[in-house]
Amino acid sequence: MSFCPENNDMSLQVKKLVDINVRGKRVFIRADLNVPQDEAGNITEDTRIRASVPTIRHCLDQGAAVMVTSHLGRPVEGNLGPEDTLAPVAVRLGQLLGRSVRLIADWLDGGFTVEPGQVVLLENCRCNIGEKKNDETLSKKMAALCDVYVNDAFGTAHRAEATTHGIARFAPDACAGLLMSAEIDALSRAFDNPKRPLVAIVGGAKVSSKLTILKSLAEKVDQLIVGGGIANTFLLASGKRIGESLAEPDLVKEAHAVMDLMRARGAEVPLPVDVVVADEVSALARANKVSIDEVGPHDRILDIGPKSAAHLAQIVANANVVVWNGPVGVFEHPQFAGGTKMLASAIAHSQAFSVAGGGDTLAAIAKFDIANDVGYISTGGGAFLEFLEGKTLPAIAALKARYRG
Ligand code: 3PG
Repeated sequence: MSFCPENNDMSLQVKKLVDINVRGKRVFIRADLNVPQDEAGNITEDTRIRASVPTIRHCLDQGAAVMVTSHLGRPVEGNLGPEDTLAPVAVRLGQLLGRSVRLIADWLDGGFTVEPGQVVLLENCRCNIGEKKNDETLSKKMAALCDVYVNDAFGTAHRAEATTHGIARFAPDACAGLLMSAEIDALSRAFDNPKRPLVAIVGGAKVSSKLTILKSLAEKVDQLIVGGGIANTFLLASGKRIGESLAEPDLVKEAHAVMDLMRARGAEVPLPVDVVVADEVSALARANKVSIDEVGPHDRILDIGPKSAAHLAQIVANANVVVWNGPVGVFEHPQFAGGTKMLASAIAHSQAFSVAGGGDTLAAIAKFDIANDVGYISTGGGAFLEFLEGKTLPAIAALKARYRG
């Protein structure tokens, strides 16, 4: 089975950087260096910069003249405010590469030099007028700066912008960088002819924000584990009382539809048989473990209970592929962290190939220290979610179109 073959078949190939000789060539790398910063502009988390280094280093080692750009935040086009500059990123990138990285402010007209074996960082590409609208003139101008366009920005693959899409149409050559290739490979391993059972874990507060993902996965996976507020809506749909727990009663019908779809395929949505409840979400809240049939009218379900966690851990242990997005409890507080911790540990110990992505999931992976035991951790937030929804990622589609000629 292929994952949404008509629009999202990862098995359709893209050209890869490793298949191109870039010696002496001008290489334009679109990276995703969109990292969080504090109010003073200090980078607070640099995973995306570190993840972009191998492609840059590969091109430098091959003797290419390397230009790298990225967006940072969502600036107003035509205006580079102090909070929009990639200057702190240039410093961090320089530290990681062990060389200074020159930041070029006005680069569209090519009035700068970069020799083979050198790297420059081109200032925030979202400050260029026409970037967001994927303007053709802007795309052509950028394409003229290079011999090879490399897209390594999986985190921005769900945006059809001039540096992620338009330039790929006009550059002399276009390919996926090492990070982009690794993301594509991991997602295709999980969804294109996966070894079964294929298990997906979708946690989070609201069904509404992940409804398309749930529907899309319901057609493909063998077990769909739901967690958090999403699970509460499914519990309501199966006739359980959930007290004052976070849920969306108006989406009970949709939850039913997902369960029906799964059942019709011989697949299942395993729901909690026990839960951890409290009367408030706080660090001081008193947690009680109760059976799902004992939830009181004023209780709030804030985690799955130990029996449910053990059952889910067994499902994960038997899986061949696990896709994880979202926690199953309020794991920020220790008394509600047990379910997510057990699931994380099950993923870490499972023989299954696991792919994880999304902000809360990465926080849980860091908290329970299992990063080295997950098969692949995606750098994509929105891009990862849109992929799970079965949507076409325009940046990948543009590379595929070039591959087919
Ligand atoms: C992200 O942070 O998810 C990516 O860098 C994309 O950013 P955007 O949502 O501003 O396009």
